[in-house]
Amino acid sequence: MSVSVVRRTDPEAVGAILASLPEWFGIPEANASYVADAGRLPSYLAVDADDPDDVVGVALLAEHFPGSRELHLLAVRRDRHREGIGRALVGAVASDLREAGVRLLEVHTVGPSHESAGYAATRAFYLAQDFVALTELQRIDWDGPTLILVRPL
Ligand SMILES: CC(C)(COP(=O)(O)OP(=O)(O)OC[C@H]1O[C@@H](n2cnc3c(N)ncnc32)[C@H](O)[C@@H]1OP(=O)(O)O)[C@@H](O)C(=O)NCCC(=O)NCCS
Repeated sequence: MSVSVVRRTDPEAVGAILASLPEWFGIPEANASYVADAGRLPSYLAVDADDPDDVVGVALLAEHFPGSRELHLLAVRRDRHREGIGRALVGAVASDLREAGVRLLEVHTVGPSHESAGYAATRAFYLAQDFVALTELQRIDWDGPTLILVRPL
């Protein structure tokens, strides 16, 4: 089944995607905060090409400074992993940002010094999307290591 990437907000659908990913998004308060963010931040949704109401992935952006953006949230519904949906979302984001003159895309994820098969897969995904690992910092987003990756646009 093919997907399209659209600029649209749908907090409820984002909540359902996060609920399908308990290994990554298992803290109810954090998920509620992402759902609220999904209503206010620039939002890209991956939708089924035949049924645009079927939302299978999301990317949210945060702007801290004009020349860069943070990929604040990226998630693909559990039953649709490894179909190229994450790649399509990051590709659409990168292409829009490049066109807007933004130079760098950054993302925070759990760092390699914390053992987790799920986040090892997440890091492999980002490295495959041309992100470069920049630095690992302790206790900036949670009570453990955060890896910051950047992708020149
Ligand atoms: C990370 C995530 C967004 C990737 O989305 P996806 O649609 O499954 O990934 P894609 O199919 O687009 O993968 C693109 C490429 O990334 C790499 N990749 C993706 N998943 C991988 C894995 N589990 N192990 C190793 N490489 C992987 C591969 O090179 C893949 O290309 P290929 O399938 O042709 O080999 C998705 O798996 C997800 O939602 N994970 C849980 C939530 C999460 O980690 N969010 C980010 C938190 S910071």
